[in-house]
Parts: sequence; C-alpha cells; structure tokens
Amino acid sequence: MQGLQGKRVLITGASSGIGAGMAKVLAREGCRLVLHYNQNDSGIRQTLAEVEALGAKAQVVQCDFRDLSAIAGFFKQAWSLFDGLDGLVNNAGVVTKTTAVNDSSGEQFAETLAVNLQAPYQISTEFAQACIRADQPGAIVNNSSIHGQATCEWFSAYAASKAGLDAITKVQAVEWGRHGIRVNGLAPGVVPVERTFDILLKPEMEQYWSERMPAGRYGNVEEMGEATAYLLSDVTSWMTGSILTIDGGLIARGNYPLR
Ligand SMILES: NC(=O)c1ccc[n+]([C@@H]2O[C@H](COP(=O)([O-])OP(=O)(O)OC[C@H]3O[C@@H](n4cnc5c(N)ncnc54)[C@H](OP(=O)(O)O)[C@@H]3O)[C@@H](O)[C@H]2O)c1
Repeated sequence: MQGLQGKRVLITGASSGIGAGMAKVLAREGCRLVLHYNQNDSGIRQTLAEVEALGAKAQVVQCDFRDLSAIAGFFKQAWSLFDGLDGLVNNAGVVTKTTAVNDSSGEQFAETLAVNLQAPYQISTEFAQACIRADQPGAIVNNSSIHGQATCEWFSAYAASKAGLDAITKVQAVEWGRHGIRVNGLAPGVVPVERTFDILLKPEMEQYWSERMPAGRYGNVEEMGEATAYLLSDVTSWMTGSILTIDGGLIARGNYPLR
C-alpha cells in the first residue's frame, strides 16, 4: 500500500491475536516494526520470528499498561529504537466482562479503563509531542471495537473504554490535524484469536454467529491488518477522525428475528 515502505511503526499488543496479524501485514508492506507485549514472551518471540522471516526489521519492547507511570519511559524507548516513529497502532487491550457480582469494588472497571483508554491516550500524546518536536507528520490507528457503538450486557467497562477511545480519536484528530498527524479508529466485530478459539470455533457457535452476520462468517486477523495498513498508508492521507467499522455487517443489522 502506497507510502508504507520503510515506515517505522509501533504496534502495542503484538504478542497474539489481532496485533500479531497487524504486524505480519505491515511487515509484508515493508514497514520497520516496534513490537510491544506485556506478559506473553513466547508469543512476541513468535511474532518477531514471523515478521523477520518476511524480511522486516523489528524490535521488541515490554510494558504493563496497568502501570500508567511506566508509559513515558516505554514510549521513549520505543521511539529511540529506529531513531523515531512514523506510525502508532494502539492495539493492546483487555476484553473484560463486568457484573455486580464479579466487580463490586470497581477494580476491574478501573483496570479496563487504564489499559484500553488511558494508556492509548498517553501513548498517543507522547507520539504527537515527539512528531511535533521532530517537525514530521504521523499516523495513529486506535483499535477500538463495535462495542464502542453498540453493546450488550456485561460489557459496561469494555464498552465505556472503547466508546471513550472513539471520542479521543476524534478529539486528537481535531487537535493535531494542523501538525500533519492523522488519528483514525478501527472498530472490529468478532475476530477469533488464540484467547477465544476454544469458544468461537465450536461448530454451534460458528453457526450462531454466521447466521447473524451479513457476510456470513467471522473476520480474521489478516483482514484487521489490511485495514490498519490502509489507515496508516498515504491512500487515506485526507482521512482523520474516522472510525472504520469492520464487522461483516454485524451492527448494521438490527435486532430483528432471523428470517
Ligand atoms: N478479537 C476480537 O474479536 C476483537 C474485536 C474487537 C476489538 N478487539 C480489540 O483488539 C485488540 C487486541 O485484542 P485481541 O482480540 O487480539 O486479544 P489478545 O490476543 O488477547 O491480545 C491482547 C494484547 O494486549 C496486550 N495486553 C493485555 N493486557 C495488557 C496490559 N496490562 N499491558 C499491556 N498490554 C496488554 C496483550 O499482551 P500480553 O499477552 O503479552 O500480555 C496482547 O498482546 C484489543 O484492543 C481488543 O479490544 C478484538
């Protein structure tokens, strides 16, 4: 995709799932990658080996985003590895289900908001400041979710974090547009990843979801990577403040009975 060759991109949460898929697509597009992870050492080693096998230059950084005080140091390290960054993909996140029974203290709610909302806010702010100091443009992709737009029971923390991320995407796009920094969001639907294979790949579950999605199937991490490459590339040079929903039509369909 136009304008990606040689670009330096930080992807958070690249040790599994969608982040690992994004890394492979961006490696194929010729990007140099800074791959972030938190706990999954073997996962990040696998992503690193796969992107290097595709010919990409890549480096790894670790950070637990529950500790928001660690973010400035983490970003400084990420920025230094290739002497700057052109793109940032805020992908790391936790998918939590909160109920009155399992989260009466609000601890899980606070942790979800820290990792899914405040961390990307702070990382993007560090990225924008560094781009402005270096007098260079930049592109940010925030991996949100359809839960930012339409949600259901148990997702109060998760949906709040993603709706907040969509709001930040728009505000930061407005604030930083004049500096040549674009900020867009991706809102994936149901994408099986290692974390959910056990549940989503059961034939009865696959049939249940397929019947409710106009495209008739789940998405895959490769498709999320392609959409991310699109948002980082020059093809979308006039696109900022947008949320790209990519869900096989799931939320376009109302809650009507199956016909
Ligand atoms: N899969 C879907 O259907 C779907 C749909 C919509 C949106 N999304 C979004 O896609 C993103 C990736 O999720 P995924 O489905 O690919 O799940 P995943 O495979 O579990 O990936 C989550 C990533 O986030 C990192 N992470 C989790 N907690 C962290 C923390 N405290 N500090 C720093 N990093 C942390 C993980 O790192 P370690 O494992 O190394 O600790 C991992 O790399 C999330 O933002 C999620 O909300 C997913």
